[in-house]
Amino acid sequence: MSRTLWIDDDGTLRTLDQTALPFERREFALRTPDDCERAIRTMQVRGAPLIGAVGAYGLALALRADASDAGLRRAHERLAAARPTAVNLRWALDRGRERVAPADPALRAQLAWDEAGRICDDDVACNASIGEQGARLLRALAERRAALAGMTGTDGITLNLLTHCNAGRIATIDHGTALAPVYRLHEEGVPVHVWVDETRPRNQGAALTAWELGARGVPHTVITDNAGGLLMMQGRVDAVIVGCDRVAANGDVANKVGTYLKALAAHDNGVPFYVACPVSTIDAAMPDGVSIPIEERAAREVTHLEGRLDDGSPASVRIVPEGSAVANPAFDITPARLVTALITEHGVCEASASGLRAVLACAARRVGPAGAP
Ligand code: MRU
Repeated sequence: MSRTLWIDDDGTLRTLDQTALPFERREFALRTPDDCERAIRTMQVRGAPLIGAVGAYGLALALRADASDAGLRRAHERLAAARPTAVNLRWALDRGRERVAPADPALRAQLAWDEAGRICDDDVACNASIGEQGARLLRALAERRAALAGMTGTDGITLNLLTHCNAGRIATIDHGTALAPVYRLHEEGVPVHVWVDETRPRNQGAALTAWELGARGVPHTVITDNAGGLLMMQGRVDAVIVGCDRVAANGDVANKVGTYLKALAAHDNGVPFYVACPVSTIDAAMPDGVSIPIEERAAREVTHLEGRLDDGSPASVRIVPEGSAVANPAFDITPARLVTALITEHGVCEASASGLRAVLACAARRVGPAGAP
């Protein structure tokens, strides 16, 4: 399968319009910094790593028009403001700015474009590694379950995982974060089934996660956001695995609203709760979760449901009475104490200040989890 963001033969940056999925596969071009900013704001592109990559290309496109120091500053500020919670956007913009700032303005646009390409390549490699680390962890879980059942191998064991929102390949350049281990296990022939939270209000689970799991042939079941607690209580969830938009220095994590409630239910039922993310999602400057800015989105996302009628035509229907007040925080914070472990490209670590320091040290030395270069 191709990447989520790609360059056409004519040099145009293209991606998928995620607001049209799962009903229509609509590609569109990102030709200007305005195109990139709009796509991020309207969530035609979404998911922390993908908005970072689109932001980095937006910076390069802006520098084609104005590569002065002031132009660089303006473009960085504007793109960074498009969505506030996922730190990957600012991280990618900072990476682009640091690459070009010392250079002659005449060279800046091309340098930024090349750096955006490297951000994409790095994302693919990171997520492949997250897939490997996570698959190892989940295989061990299947082995423990088999041993408890008095079995010698894991034959006949299906791992039941629960995920929230979409942290799959279309939230990244490829592989995904939370779904990378799922794809890896599925490719290896390990039976895996995913409970997919619908993820109100925008339904990224029902629309996007179900779509991409289906495209890969991974068995899955879409559930309402409120069903996960019961399934965990009934012993029908082996582990919860989610992505993440920002990890604070103390190990608290911000992810799609509703994640916290799943973590509470997992904790209460002794179900492991894993957060998969690249180290670029760790914000060492953010002391704790409550300090993370939470995006508040339009009331219409709550008051209306978007979908298709049976004849395939798009429809938007109101479900809230006119005049009722509406709040729409798009993310929440899961305290570190509820996170069993973080799965990063540099290894699995505890969600704590010391766990994060260890994994960031590995990243700085560019070594893998086993110390392998
Ligand atoms: O509002 P969204 O759809 O951009 O939110 C996405 C999430 O919350 C994901 O879990 C997160 O960005 C990780 S994506 C690999």
